[in-house]
Amino acid sequence: MPKILKTISDVRDFTSLYSLINRRIGFVPTMGALHEGHLELGKKARNECDCLIYSIFVNPIQFGPKEDLDKYPRDIKDDLEKLDSIGTDAVFIPDNSAMYPNGFNSFVDIGEIGNILCGKSRPGHFRGVATVVTKLFNIVCCDQAYFGKKDYQQYIIIKKMVRDLNIPVEIIGADTVREKDGLAMSSRNAYLSKEERISATVLYKALNYAKDNFLNFESKDGLISKTIEFIKREKSANIDYVEIRNTADLSDVQSLKKGKFVLLLAVRFGNARLIDNIALN
Ligand code: PAJ
Repeated sequence: MPKILKTISDVRDFTSLYSLINRRIGFVPTMGALHEGHLELGKKARNECDCLIYSIFVNPIQFGPKEDLDKYPRDIKDDLEKLDSIGTDAVFIPDNSAMYPNGFNSFVDIGEIGNILCGKSRPGHFRGVATVVTKLFNIVCCDQAYFGKKDYQQYIIIKKMVRDLNIPVEIIGADTVREKDGLAMSSRNAYLSKEERISATVLYKALNYAKDNFLNFESKDGLISKTIEFIKREKSANIDYVEIRNTADLSDVQSLKKGKFVLLLAVRFGNARLIDNIALN
């Protein structure tokens, strides 16, 4: 079983031994309810680093007041078994007071990139993510940290943040792990009813539709409207956004003629807000 680290000094004691003898520490931050997508990140880290550390922390400051903080799925026993199965060395499971002691009041401001796409309907979300990830990096002192491209905006924000703030951690991205029918694995898939789970398969089909038809469109608006039409065939789909952005930095796209693009979407099915994306070229 992985060693369980509860306090910040537990983590520092553990990682300093590895750093002392120049061993590479790989780190995977998570909010638990682990699935194969989370484990893929660790397997990649296991191959590339000498020591593999996860964190499990449902970070309250990245949830809005009406969001699912209280009902976010938690199953530490199952998580530990899964982490054991891939050879995890240690897992940091702090409580709220270790991360946010009384008087905590310093945040990482990531600017406009935190207000687009998911940031529009989740104000403050990426500020909360950037802040907790910075704290975790400062606590764990890892060499490499692994993030899923399923949460593409988060991945780009974290890469930009470590560059902007000279945080000495290399950010490694990993491809999205999917269920057999294409639905991106997510802890939030647990919120879907049986019918919604079936409807949600439209997302990956729509992403592939966009990718396959990309060359037939000169304007992004045309491709976006067709993709929206495709998703709306599922009556229970409630679209938050479908957007096309530049792959490297999520900046606005003027023309589809030159560049590399990603199509990103967020769609609600009942209580579940699902996100996904695909590289168009
Ligand atoms: P969480 O949603 O638990 O995800 C932890 C990591 O797993 C993220 O990097 C996410 O992109 C990755 N991941 C989730 N589903 C995946 C999938 N199907 N395929 C590949 N990777 C996947 O993202 C967070 O937690 C939090 O915001 C966190 C970074 C831990 C900060 O609190």
